[in-house]
Amino acid sequence: MKILIINGPNLNLLGVREPGVYGNEGFESYLAKLGARFPGIGIDYYQSNVEGEIINRLHEAGFSYDGIVLNAGAYTHTSIAIADAVKAIRTPVVEVHISNVTAREPFRHESYLTPVCRGCIFGFGLLSYDLAIQSFLTQQ
Ligand code: DQA
Repeated sequence: MKILIINGPNLNLLGVREPGVYGNEGFESYLAKLGARFPGIGIDYYQSNVEGEIINRLHEAGFSYDGIVLNAGAYTHTSIAIADAVKAIRTPVVEVHISNVTAREPFRHESYLTPVCRGCIFGFGLLSYDLAIQSFLTQQ
C-alpha cells in the first residue's frame, strides 16, 4: 500500500509554530516514528506553502497512490481549487487537522474539503495522521 501525506502552508514550521496549539514536535521526527508504526506501508511526504503546488501534487499522486492524507492548513477554509482537485482525482483523500478546528475561531469551522474527502480527522494532535492511515488499512 502506498500513502502520500500532503501538508499545506506553515506546517513546515511544526514544532516551532504556536506550540500551545500544534505541539513541540517537528513533522520530520514524527514521520520517522510513523513509518516505524506502519512498516508494511510506503509513506511518502510532501509539503508546500503554495496552493498551486499542492494541486499539482494531488494531480500527480491521485491516480497511482492508494490513499492521500491531506492537511491543507488554512487553505482548508478558503480553497475551492484544492476541493476541485480532490474531486478530480481517483485516489481517496482523508482530511486531517492537528488542532480541534471547531473549538477555534469561527473561520476555521468551515472546510471546503470535508464534503469531497472520504472523511475528516481532527483534534488529536499528530496522532490524527496515524488515525487517517489506519482508516486506509481498514477501508480500502
Ligand atoms: C490546521 C488548522 C488550520 O485552521 C490552520 O490554518 C493550520 C493547521 C491544523 O492542522 O490544525 O494551518 O490545519
